[in-house]
Amino acid sequence: MEVFHHRREINQHITSLKKEGKAIGFVPTMGALHDGHISLVHASKQQNDITVVSIFVNPTQFNNKEDLAKYPRTLQTDLPLLEKEGCDMVFVPDEKEMYPEPDLRVFSFGNLDKVMEGKYRPGHFNGIAQVVTKLIDIISPHRAYFGFKDFQQLIVIKKLIDDCQYPVEIVSCPIVREADGLAMSSRNIRLSPEERKHAALIPKTLLRAKQTGTSVSPARLKKAVTDTINKDPHLQVEYFEIVDDKTLQPVNSWDQTGVKVGCIAVYAGNVRLIDNITFNS
Ligand code: PAJ
Repeated sequence: MEVFHHRREINQHITSLKKEGKAIGFVPTMGALHDGHISLVHASKQQNDITVVSIFVNPTQFNNKEDLAKYPRTLQTDLPLLEKEGCDMVFVPDEKEMYPEPDLRVFSFGNLDKVMEGKYRPGHFNGIAQVVTKLIDIISPHRAYFGFKDFQQLIVIKKLIDDCQYPVEIVSCPIVREADGLAMSSRNIRLSPEERKHAALIPKTLLRAKQTGTSVSPARLKKAVTDTINKDPHLQVEYFEIVDDKTLQPVNSWDQTGVKVGCIAVYAGNVRLIDNITFNS
């Protein structure tokens, strides 16, 4: 496995591999790797000749300084793990390499970023678009892999790739969960043992909501989920929305066509967790 710190070097290397006809799969991450990330690496390895992972905690997508400062950085264990999983190349740039100049680009996603994560984390998706466009330019992969865990990110990135007309296939991969159902996340290691235990109520409540399904209105289901989780003194719901999987706009009735996804953000202490569940499948 080769580790690159400079964009020119990795770009040149990949350009020559592409000339040899190799298919390139790319998994962008912010590190602190867990089995969710590794599932993307496995998917890429199945579909491509070469798998490239990037590890970069992108400052422009954090709207909260403390969240950025406390974001786990575990490069010393990330690299051996990627090597063990058969990753071919890792790109680990520093901030200067990615942002030699402040990035002043402003992206527009219509209504896609006016809700949920976009609403509660202003500038978050603009920062993601800044870093993802740079990474795609550097790596120029045939396919890029994203987790359904960050559902809104996935939809926004698909729109970004379409708008920029990048010749990259976006592949989405299912949510990987802990044994008790909690969605794997780099932030989980920041939970106290008590918070970690209580956080399992999040997926449990989402699953119960899916089982309740269309027997109650979306508005009532929304209230039931929020109330159940807020009753736990360790948890505080920031939002729970049931949205159309294409427009990301809240649905008022189950009769509306299209797939519906329930998306939630919850604070466990001061750690912010997100999760989602698909209703009609
Ligand atoms: P990060 O949070 O490190 O996640 C990297 C990728 O792993 C994302 O596509 C995310 O959806 C996926 N992922 C995380 N947890 C997962 C889980 N439990 N199951 C399946 N996939 C999971 O998302 C980012 O980094 C950044 O925003 C990034 C796209 C790298 C841009 O900076």
